[in-house]
Parts: sequence; structure tokens; C-alpha cells
Amino acid sequence: MPDPIVFSGGNDGAWRVTRQTAIKGNGVAGVDRLTKGGQPIAGATWVLSGVPSNLRYTNAAEKRVLDATPSVLGRPAATRAALIPIAKSAAWWALAQDERRVVLEDKSRHIAIGSDYLSAVSRQLVHCRDQPGAVFDFLTWFEFPPADEGRFDELLAKLRATPEWGFVEREVELRLEKVS
Ligand code: HEM
Repeated sequence: MPDPIVFSGGNDGAWRVTRQTAIKGNGVAGVDRLTKGGQPIAGATWVLSGVPSNLRYTNAAEKRVLDATPSVLGRPAATRAALIPIAKSAAWWALAQDERRVVLEDKSRHIAIGSDYLSAVSRQLVHCRDQPGAVFDFLTWFEFPPADEGRFDELLAKLRATPEWGFVEREVELRLEKVS
């Protein structure tokens, strides 16, 4: 099992929360700061954690495109970030693997759309559906330079307009800036 990736929300941490929005369904308690990584912070308002995992839906040609621009976390210029926890509906999880791939890529172009943003946006997909007590299925994490925040907004708008997002039943967005 890979090491867990832990997000602790509270009063401390290297990331300042600039905006926190319940996009769909219930939000999470408001916090001022976020710590990513390490052990859960004692006294945190909330802790979300999960693990990196293998690809489920990406085909070999798509993987070659992704691998050509690897996602580098911690780029010095990438002082803005977003944490977007997501839960998908029972209808999504009732689909077969091949049906989910049809929604995610054939109908929604998630990977194709995302691939246009590889050089601007670093990303990390954390899976938590199989963690005991988890309330989200995924914790998605993105880092980008301030100048690319508009491109990140554009990416979010495109993805949220897809059929795949019809299966998202809970989504929370935290926008962050690195504390120097
Ligand atoms: C930076 C551009 C992006 C790229 C290149 C990208 C790429 C991908 C790829 C390749 C997968 C499939 C992984 C697999 O095969 O299992 C995936 C899954 C996922 N992505 Fe993105 N993505 C991007 C942006 C986003 C954004 C902005 C969000 C959230 C708002 C997001 C949320 C997710 C979620 C929740 C999954 C898991 C879907 C599932 O397993 O049901 N992605 N992404």
C-alpha cells in the first residue's frame, strides 16, 4: 500500500485558504490554512487522506501524452493551488469499468481536455473511496503559477460542463496560496 497523502485543514500550514466553496452538496468546515503531507496535524479542524493509485481508464496512447509532460509538484513558481475533494454517485459506481471509461473519455474528453493544461497545471489524484470512513472518493490536488490561475478556471469550467460531472454528487473547492 503506498504511503497515505494527508491534508490537514485548520489554523496552521504552508497553504493559506483564499476561497472555500461548496460546489455541490455539503461543504467542509471553513479553515484558514492547509497542510499537505506528513502526519495528520493534531488539533486540525479536519483531516482528509487517501492514497495514490494505478490508472483505471487511461489508454496507452493517452498515457504517452501524459508521460511526456510529467506532473512536477513543488515547482517554485507554482505558488497557487487547489484542493478539490469529490464524491461520485451510486449510479457511477454501479456502472461497469468500460461504461465508466465511455463517460469519462468518449463522452466527456476528460483526459483530452486535461492534457491541454499539462504544462501549466501540476496535479495529483488521491483515491480514498476504499479508506474506512471516507466521505469522498477522490482528493484532487493542483498546483499552478499565479499567471495560470485563469487557465485553471477555464479547465474547471470545461470539466464541470461534461457528462462525467453529472455523476459528481459532492464537490468542494479550496483555493490556496503558498505562504512564503
Ligand atoms: C490538469 C489537467 C488534468 C489532467 C491531465 C487530468 C487527467 C486525468 C486522468 C488521466 C484521469 C484518469 C486516471 C485513470 O486512468 O484512472 C483523471 C481522473 C480524474 N480526474 Fe483528472 N485531469 C485533469 C484535471 C482534473 C481536474 C481539474 C479535476 C477536478 C476538478 C479532475 C478530477 C479527476 C477525478 C475526480 C478523477 C478520477 C475519476 C474516476 O476515477 O472516476 N481532473 N484525470
